[in-house]
Amino acid sequence: MKSIISINTDKSTMVYGVNKKNKLLFLYFGRPLKDKNVFFGHHLVSKPDTDRCFETMAVPTLGGDGFMGEPMLSVKHADGNLSTELIYLSHETIDTDKNQRITTIKLQDALYPLFVDLNITAYQEQGVITQQVNITHRENGCIELQSFYSGYLNLKAQQYHLTHFHGSWAGEMKPTEERLTPGSKSVESKKGVRTTQTDNSGFLLSLGQPTQEDTGEVIGGSLAWSGNYRMNFEVDEYLNLNVLGGMNPFASAYTISNTEKFQTPALVLSYSDRGIGQLSRNFHSWVRRYNLRHGSSARLIVLNSWEGAYFSFDQNTMTNMIDQAAELGAEVFVLDDGWFGNRHPRNSDSAGLGDWQVNQSKLPGGISYLANYANAKGLKFGIWIEPEMLNPESDLAREHPDWIVQRPGREKLLWRNQLVLDMTNPAVQSFVFSVVDALKVSVPNIDYIKWDANRHIENIGSHYLAKDKQSHFWIDYTKALYNVYERVRAKYPDLTMQVCASGGGRLDFGSLGYHDEFWASDNTDPMTRILLQYATNLFYPAMATAAHISTSPNQQTGISSPLKFRADVAMTGRLGVELQAKDLQGGEREFLKSTLSTYKSIREIIQFGDLYRMHTPVDGSGWTSLCYVTGNRREAVMFLFSTQAHGRGIYPTVRLKGLDPHSKYQVEEINIGEKAHWVDDRSLSGEYLMNVGVNFDVTLAYESVVLRLSETN
Ligand code: DGJ
Repeated sequence: MKSIISINTDKSTMVYGVNKKNKLLFLYFGRPLKDKNVFFGHHLVSKPDTDRCFETMAVPTLGGDGFMGEPMLSVKHADGNLSTELIYLSHETIDTDKNQRITTIKLQDALYPLFVDLNITAYQEQGVITQQVNITHRENGCIELQSFYSGYLNLKAQQYHLTHFHGSWAGEMKPTEERLTPGSKSVESKKGVRTTQTDNSGFLLSLGQPTQEDTGEVIGGSLAWSGNYRMNFEVDEYLNLNVLGGMNPFASAYTISNTEKFQTPALVLSYSDRGIGQLSRNFHSWVRRYNLRHGSSARLIVLNSWEGAYFSFDQNTMTNMIDQAAELGAEVFVLDDGWFGNRHPRNSDSAGLGDWQVNQSKLPGGISYLANYANAKGLKFGIWIEPEMLNPESDLAREHPDWIVQRPGREKLLWRNQLVLDMTNPAVQSFVFSVVDALKVSVPNIDYIKWDANRHIENIGSHYLAKDKQSHFWIDYTKALYNVYERVRAKYPDLTMQVCASGGGRLDFGSLGYHDEFWASDNTDPMTRILLQYATNLFYPAMATAAHISTSPNQQTGISSPLKFRADVAMTGRLGVELQAKDLQGGEREFLKSTLSTYKSIREIIQFGDLYRMHTPVDGSGWTSLCYVTGNRREAVMFLFSTQAHGRGIYPTVRLKGLDPHSKYQVEEINIGEKAHWVDDRSLSGEYLMNVGVNFDVTLAYESVVLRLSETN
């Protein structure tokens, strides 16, 4: 090996090497390594004459170095040659701050002026490493990129177990764990706009036995991209695992001229040798510090109008809801769908989308009346939009038929009675920007935007893109969306924004970079939410997880549940409310009020604390328990849920995690419902709480407990 390039965080090391033939090799990703010199004498092969088969290129290419698997990069050169073989040119590192180091490795095709920069960013404390690629060339004419993944890992273990996340509307993020066997497995989206509705790009890869919460080597990854993606896991003939993650090459051949640069999104990776619990904490702290908007500000309690009013409301309905929201102690009121359209009033999902003028008959005072009303009651005001979409029954569809994504000459297929605007067209981008801008200019006290997207794209075809660039659509759509987000963020940096796409349809590190939070699912049933939020929070943190208390029986599942259980589940994320508070029965209003007030006293622990999971919804125990612990370990909040009936006397033992064993903690039950579960007023040591644990009489489905722990010494 001629030189070694090592990328380090506090929790992991990734190593690349340059061999004698000037080829960049991928050598290692795993536990932190102190001695990199070991790689200099490194022989991966016992038979030196066949070494090319066993050396793993850092950027495997089609037709390069004898590589036969799924290539990270495949290029049709300007002269039609399909092979690419890269050589190492140089590398440099830049420290952007004490915690963040970017290593750029420059590569070039041995025959062509095709240049590939591999950028690897290491986030020291968080243990997160991202891989990303820039491609340029000076060939005589355009080149066609046929696959263009962002990152690649080559792993060696005796077994590989992959956990990926699958689902559909109202049932997103269902984890599936499977052992990888020789061959390829890919997790991908071809859906365009709602790209994570069915499968999320987040994955967990256990190097050995199936994943464990606190033990075992595991790698987690996800793509910072809100368009089509593919994560490819290929166990090759030597039983090595090749992992690729990037934009989906599906139907997306991309030509670039010799003056253009092609940039891939970042593949975000983390390694843990302490199971998936540590991996989640790595991702959460990275998201809060480097990904999410306003990641150091506490999130406010939202009351959203959707499940309480749907499309049937007028000004009085909304001012009543604001009154109720203020009385309960909510801090933001969000007016959801249904507020716009005059010639085509938005009274159902079949008309009006695209006509972003306030509906005069529903809201004669306009949006500013409601925003001022909310402010006068001490609440911030937010509003729902879905600016990339339109109903055929709208003025917009009549005025701009060429703005609609459509299959030339064929029927426009509807989904939720709507179509998608062609964001590749700069005029459409300006229109989408103007939806936010016009609202903010006319009503400056809009503080929160919920940005929705309720269909995916099956009608492929852009009026705007040239004939030979139609396959650019998927990538250009997402880049255009990001351009608009950039414009919005440049002008309105303080705006709170929620990403929503019929629930968790756009939940990825790409969209999160422009938002403050996400709507994980339209399913607000607490039992479903326990699994859904568990899986979502494997990657994405509680502070960004909008979790709303809704009515019972639940409107999606028809299942009834106690208010306390609904409240406790919602408190594990960014608490909100989504119901008609005036319909609350008996003591429910008082209980809800006290929940909101309790949440305010513990939200910093939940939103900024480290998440530890004790029982999980996938461990078969029938309980879920978790705790959030502040960085200094002085405060914690524990949640316990029973998700099934266990039988009399079968009590869960909860051994807390993350506390200081040498400290004593005052333990107090909070958000108590009909029955108290904690009557002990002794202070207990961290050692006791974590090793002996505590039992609760929580044996029936829908029972739950919340404890607050505060250090006493
Ligand atoms: C889908 C979202 O997920 C819901 O919360 C709501 O905003 C509706 N769209 C409105 O049409």
